[in-house]
Formats: sequence, C-alpha cells, structure tokens
Amino acid sequence: MATAVRLSGITKRFGTLKANDDVSLSIRAGSIHGLVGENGAGKSTLSNIIYGLIRPDSGAIEIDGKAVGFTSTRQAIEAGIGMVHQHFMLVPTLTVAENIILGREKSSFRLPMKRLEQEIRELGHRHGLEVDPCAPVSSLSVGEQQRVEILKLLYRQARILILDEPTAVLTPSETERLFVTLRSLAAEGRTILLITHKLDEVLAVSDDVSVMRKGALVGTIPTSSATKEVLARMMVGRNVLLTTENPSQAAGSPALRIDRLGYVARDGAKKLQDLNLTVHSGEIYGMAGVEGNGQAELLSLLWGTYDRQATIDGSITLDGRSLLGMSPAEIAGMGVSMIPEDRHKSAIIADYGIEENLIFGRHREHDFHRGIGFDHEKIHRNALQMIERYDIRTGSGSNPSIASLSGGNQQKIVLAREMERPGLKLLVLAQPTRGVDIGAIELIHRRIIDARQSGMAILLISSELEEVIALSSRIGCLYKGAIRHEFPEESVRNGRKKGSGFEKEIGLHIT
Ligand SMILES: Nc1ncnc2c1ncn2[C@@H]1O[C@H](COP(=O)(O)OP(=O)(O)OP(=O)(O)O)[C@@H](O)[C@H]1O
Ligand SMILES: [Mg+2]
Repeated sequence: MATAVRLSGITKRFGTLKANDDVSLSIRAGSIHGLVGENGAGKSTLSNIIYGLIRPDSGAIEIDGKAVGFTSTRQAIEAGIGMVHQHFMLVPTLTVAENIILGREKSSFRLPMKRLEQEIRELGHRHGLEVDPCAPVSSLSVGEQQRVEILKLLYRQARILILDEPTAVLTPSETERLFVTLRSLAAEGRTILLITHKLDEVLAVSDDVSVMRKGALVGTIPTSSATKEVLARMMVGRNVLLTTENPSQAAGSPALRIDRLGYVARDGAKKLQDLNLTVHSGEIYGMAGVEGNGQAELLSLLWGTYDRQATIDGSITLDGRSLLGMSPAEIAGMGVSMIPEDRHKSAIIADYGIEENLIFGRHREHDFHRGIGFDHEKIHRNALQMIERYDIRTGSGSNPSIASLSGGNQQKIVLAREMERPGLKLLVLAQPTRGVDIGAIELIHRRIIDARQSGMAILLISSELEEVIALSSRIGCLYKGAIRHEFPEESVRNGRKKGSGFEKEIGLHIT
C-alpha cells in the first residue's frame, strides 16, 4: 500500500522543551491510523506540523511520496490535508453552509448559496454526516458541530484527515456513528489520523496505532496485535491500573438535597421536572445520562449561573441552607466546588500563569495573602505542591502561561484548584476526566475517592458509564429532566463485577 504521510526525524522545541523529538512515522494511504500518548506527549504538536500550522525545527515530511515544506495551512490544504482541532473552530453566528465555505469566499467560481446548501446536504447524506446546512452553528449539538467540521474537510476534498480527539465530546452513540463514517471514508481511499485517549476506540477502529511518550515515538504496531494493556504500558512506561480501587464506606448525613426541582427555560422548554435526589457526605452520587437531558441546567442552578428569566421550582439545599438565588461566589463560600464541563470557557484564564490559575476564584483566601498584598512565595509553594500532587506536566520555564499546557494538563490544574479548596463540603464534577490520559485518569480517580473518604459529598455527572460505575456509591439515571431510576449501593457494587451487564442495564434507563 502506498504511503500517504511520511515523517522523518521531526523535532520541535518550545524553549528548552522538546515537544517532538526525532519523530519518524509512516501512515499508509487508505488506513485509519491511531495516535495515542499521555497528555503533553506531543500529539497535537505533531498534527499541527503535518497541517502546516507549526514549522518543525528539523526533519522532513513527504505527502503522497512528494517532499513538502509547508509554511502555511493553505499549502497543506492544497496538498489535500484537513484537520479538525481538539477545540472546535466554527463561527457560532454563521450557518453551517457559511462555515463550510469560510476562507473560500474569494474563489473565482463562487456557487450560489442554494446550490451550495444542496451540495452539503448530498455530501452529508453520502457520508452519514447529516446536518441542516441552513442552521446556525450555535443551535447545533456538539456532535452535529463535529459533523460540520468533517464536512468542511470533505467539501475541500481533503484526502488526508487529521482528527484531534474527535470523540472527547461525543456520546457513545455519536462516537459509533462517527466511526462508521470514518470506516467508509477509509474504504474510499482517504487516510485518517485519529488522536484519542480512549484506547477501546483505537482498538475498535484503527488499522495501525502509534504511541508517543514525552515527545518521542515509542513505536507503531498493527492494531490487531495491540491490547489495552500493551498500549497503556507503551504510553506511560509502566503498568497502569485499568480498574479503580474503590473500598466501600458508610455514608454520613445528607448534605445536598434536591427537592421537586423544576426548570422551565425562558422559551417555555421544560428542562427539569420534579427532580429529586440526596447526596450524603462521604458519598459519591453518580448521575448517568446522555447529555442534553437537563445536566447543563442542573449545573447552572448548583453553581448560581442559571438564567434568571427561567422559571425555577422546588429547592436545593446544602446542610439545610438554600443555594437557590445565590451568586457563584456565595455558593463557593458555603464550601462548594465545581469542575465545569467546558473548562475553556469558564474555569481558566488563558493569558495567566499556572500559579495564578491555581488560585483563580480562591484568591481571597487568607493563606495567599500577606498584609494587604499577595504572598507570592506562598502562591508559588502552593503551585509546586499541586504540580506534584496532581502530576501536572508544565513544560518549560517557571510559571508558564496555562495556554502553553496540553489540554489534559489544563484540566488537572482546574481539578487541583477546586478539589483542594479549604472547608469543602460538596464537590460537583462534570465530566472530570474528559480529554485526560489513562495514567492521569488513574490519578484523578484516586483523588476523588480520597475526597470521599475524607467525608466530602460528591455529585459526579458524566456521560462515561464506565467512570460512573467505577466511582459511584449510588447511581441515578437522568432522563428528560428527572431521575428515572436509582441504583442503590449494593447493585452498584455488584455491577462493578466483570460481565455483570450493568452498563446495558443503566443504558435502558437513560435512552
Ligand atoms: N505554543 C506552545 N508554547 C510552549 N509550549 C507548548 C506549546 N504548545 C505545546 N507546548 C508544550 O509541548 C508539549 C506537547 O504538547 P501537545 O499539545 O502536543 O501535547 P498532546 O500530546 O496533544 O497532549 P493532550 O493529550 O493533553 O492534548 C506540552 O508539554 C506542551 O506544554
Ligand atoms: Mg492535544
């Protein structure tokens, strides 16, 4: 089989850090090639180099047997390369069709909009990427937005598609659907480079898989000879516990109480209806469910950021005090921490350093002050402690900006800051390990269990059933704005046993 992409000796430094270290890699034309590695291993950097976004310091690239030296993405696109980034790059206010032609408006053979929309419809239909070309992107679900990103590449006739963590934000059924599309694209002769942290997915869909660690390529193997354990060991350099140790513990008194909660959006849509649940201290309450069943509204109520024009019913109390109507700062002051799902929008300040981000929202804490100013020595020491305890890979230099960290390491910063808040009573975790590598998932799961052992009440909202089952004391199934079914502790414990079919059983209550 011909080689679509051949990289030889690619090296890229950021300051003193080698993000890519002498990487040589070949991708067969018409194959799906998986690329895995820990957070910060250099996967996105390597993809950006192939896509012409970053120029390597040294090394050579061949596309379809021809040497190239892209100085811009435009050249890469002309050579038939397309990329969907780790964080989507669509313009929300424009329609699907407008986003797809964005950057090509000046082309001499401009199509009338109607024709374009028709073409997009047909293209989508052919590849299982159905989406309404006239809809504004802001009205689409993340799964649909991703279809638009891929359609955009296909519309430009990309033959080599790079997808950087495309499944991180998808539901299991959306992921399955994406894989069907990818397989049919490969069968048509297109080449796909797929970056993901989910080893099951690489095993399910790829033909070959390459593993990176600390900038270097550890190896490339045919997927048929790979297992989860083999890949995990290649990634991390040691054996990884793929199951979470979860000793049982008696729960304490009720901490968070949600009673007959209702949420009607300003447009009249019922988002939550008669939602009831209690989370005790020393307990992890797992909320399973497909996104879009009221999770976002519940989170906004717990965090004080809900739309004040929505109609709210019922009550939310923590240790008997109502949380409804309070501001986020007041809620935090009551001992509540939250790991939001979209950390890029709401949990970090990109221009600031790691040290500042590690106290963001906690900057009023007495500990970080001396006299009327900040105690920079203490802030620095706090950062060192968190970096150690959460194994945050900070790259080079002292206090680098958080934007220079890889995606998974940014997530660890948010977790460290929120989980270590003094006086914490309630921890609300939304998709806490999304985009995080398996070694780091192991660590984060251990920290969550530690927090439970120390008596915290924890509400875990996750679309990863495996995670909900591994961590939770009890599980509630959220469907259309209410808890449709609750699994008590004993059935969750039994459900953890291999071959129990528990995931399927939960699945029945959430779809
Ligand atoms: N623009 C930049 N400036 C400085 N350092 C950078 C920059 N971009 C990446 N890095 C560093 O290079 C290393 C590799 O980052 P990269 O984003 O390629 O990792 P990754 O494998 O994609 O990780 P993740 O799985 O977390 O997305 C990291 O240590 C990161 O901090
Ligand atoms: Mg990345």
